[in-house]
Amino acid sequence: MFKKITRRNFIWFSLGFVAAVGTTKVTLNYHSKQKILALDNPAKDFTVIGTSSLKERAAVKGLMYGTAIRNHHLWEDSKLAETLVKECQILVPEWALKWYIPNPALRPEPNIFDFSEVDKILAFAQNKGLQLRGHTLVWHESLPPWFQDTVNSNNAQQILEQHINTVVGRYAGKMHSWDVVNEAINEGYLLVREQKNNIPNNLKNNLRKTPWLELLGDNYIDKAFRLTHQADPTATLVYNDYGLDYDTDADEAKRNAVLNLLENLKSKGTPIHALGIQAHLDASETNFNPDKLRSFLRDVASLGLKIMITELDVTDEKLPSDIEMRDRIIAKTYEDYLSTVLSEPAVTTVITWGISDKYSWLSDFKPRPDKAAVRPLPFDANMNRKLGWNAIARAFDNARLRS
Ligand code: G3I
Repeated sequence: MFKKITRRNFIWFSLGFVAAVGTTKVTLNYHSKQKILALDNPAKDFTVIGTSSLKERAAVKGLMYGTAIRNHHLWEDSKLAETLVKECQILVPEWALKWYIPNPALRPEPNIFDFSEVDKILAFAQNKGLQLRGHTLVWHESLPPWFQDTVNSNNAQQILEQHINTVVGRYAGKMHSWDVVNEAINEGYLLVREQKNNIPNNLKNNLRKTPWLELLGDNYIDKAFRLTHQADPTATLVYNDYGLDYDTDADEAKRNAVLNLLENLKSKGTPIHALGIQAHLDASETNFNPDKLRSFLRDVASLGLKIMITELDVTDEKLPSDIEMRDRIIAKTYEDYLSTVLSEPAVTTVITWGISDKYSWLSDFKPRPDKAAVRPLPFDANMNRKLGWNAIARAFDNARLRS
């Protein structure tokens, strides 16, 4: 019935199969490269009028621009510090206000708080007339080594209260805003998978399974905001998350889940004032739909919330190695994204996650396959402006004046 497969036939079949797979991969690779090359427009104009800084261009439209800053760099890198003061109106410690990033960690021991780094960054900001924002009070990452063995369902509430009252209380009246809770909604792809498995799309199922959820239940978010507002009634309180930017099933699912969370919090009277959109963008991503993003921003604004772009950068991980082409595509990504989000009046602040390629998290977390230095930020490693700077400047110049 079945023709006996001879050894020879099997070898021919296998070779044919490998060749077919290889050809498919080469074809897909070719097409994805073509899609990325199509993102480049050497003729695109990035001209900027005048000599104003990003801070000045933002301010004339009632906006604020700023950046994340790592420990020590303010006093170890004078060119960086000089650029920050010239270009930024607001700073956010990239590490210093997390529970635990070594050397020095904010929470080295359960009953020890080391504010030395934050105090210095705050003093710098105040001395230079800059604002400072806090990142972040409740997150599932950068928790101390002692956390797992020390915190349990009996003491978690008390430890959360102690953290917020001590940290927020110390800087009460001096912080522009706080990322009270960071990344509490599940990864978009998991939300899509749950939808396909007909798991009910509600708050309980949308929440990321973090230690805080396990220890305090799904009301931990409301609790954290209420504690923070009590500790500093003057600060703008923010829910911060990522994966909200693109026209993909995952990002669409996450936008819906975040909106559901915000509606739930507002309905309970939670003292939340803004959504933080991290905006870690990908220069090679072609699924960007301005209308869909604007619609989401309008929905958030309709809840009476402001919107802050809190961690903006553009990874060039998948771009070709040519530096001028990379800079053009990255700049176009910045301008397309910012011209979209700044068309929503509720967007008040744009913060890049670093200002110079010299200090980007992407060097460690999303290195390029060709090992070339990444170029995600407005300034290069020598603090020279790049096309990305022009793109951000143009977006501020073309933004509508905030009332
Ligand atoms: O400084 C220590 C070093 O002494 C030690 O030898 C080394 C060994 O692990 O760790 C070093 O600290 C690392 C630090 O980055 C500096 O590289 C931490 O382990 C590492 O966890 C930390 O990563 C940071 C990450 O958040 C986790 O806190 C990134 O720099 C920071 O850019 C990133 O920022 C996050 C936002 O907070 C939330 N949104 C996403 C964003 C990017 O992941």
